[in-house]
Amino acid sequence: MTARRGRWITLEGGDGSGKTTQSDLLAAWLTDAGHAVVRTREPGGSEVGTLIRDIVLHHRGDIAPRAEALLYAADRAHHVATVVRPALERGDVVLQDRYLDSSVAYQGAGRVLDPTEIRDLSLWAAEGALPDLTVLLDLDPAAARARIDAADKPFDRLEAEKADFHGRVRQAFLDLAAAEPERFLVIDAAQAPDVVAAEIRDRVGALLDLPPHRG
Ligand code: TYD
Repeated sequence: MTARRGRWITLEGGDGSGKTTQSDLLAAWLTDAGHAVVRTREPGGSEVGTLIRDIVLHHRGDIAPRAEALLYAADRAHHVATVVRPALERGDVVLQDRYLDSSVAYQGAGRVLDPTEIRDLSLWAAEGALPDLTVLLDLDPAAARARIDAADKPFDRLEAEKADFHGRVRQAFLDLAAAEPERFLVIDAAQAPDVVAAEIRDRVGALLDLPPHRG
């Protein structure tokens, strides 16, 4: 494996948990500190990914669960190979909205697919690549719903799904964080945005002080 000189941070959480706001704040802070920051997301962090994103989020009608899982995995495979790995090899900080934990939480919450199989599929797609840090913005789905309503955005296909689904997604994220406490930082996203941002900066600051690693 080539040296991974950069740092890879992913943000996870339910719809409406404040990922975009926190990603904006963290990116500004890192850039001010002189880091080269690559902001990206899944699905849709590459040109191919943009096409896949359109299918998974905007296709009208059902997509078979295994097909949906494979579409996210295909997006992930191409994104990691063409965007994330090159950036990490250059020594950049990659700040990414959603990664494989979203697949486990969302595709697993449908109760049709086995979470371990979904995770293994993603790991295969990404050749085993895992972030240095995953920030989980944890929020009660009812509070998240209120935020989305206030923003008055049109709902995408997944946002329109039922409340119990979002409850299962939340629990799945918390289970993933409990299983890998060294990779995850779990934050109470009901707090004020500046409080959340300060908690994230504390942990990211420590991460950036560490020597580069391989893998
Ligand atoms: P996006 O508009 O990026 O939502 P958000 O602002 O909430 O991040 O849409 C991403 C949607 O895709 C979100 O509802 C979660 C879902 N998703 C999956 O179901 N599986 C995945 O692997 C990923 C990356 C996202």
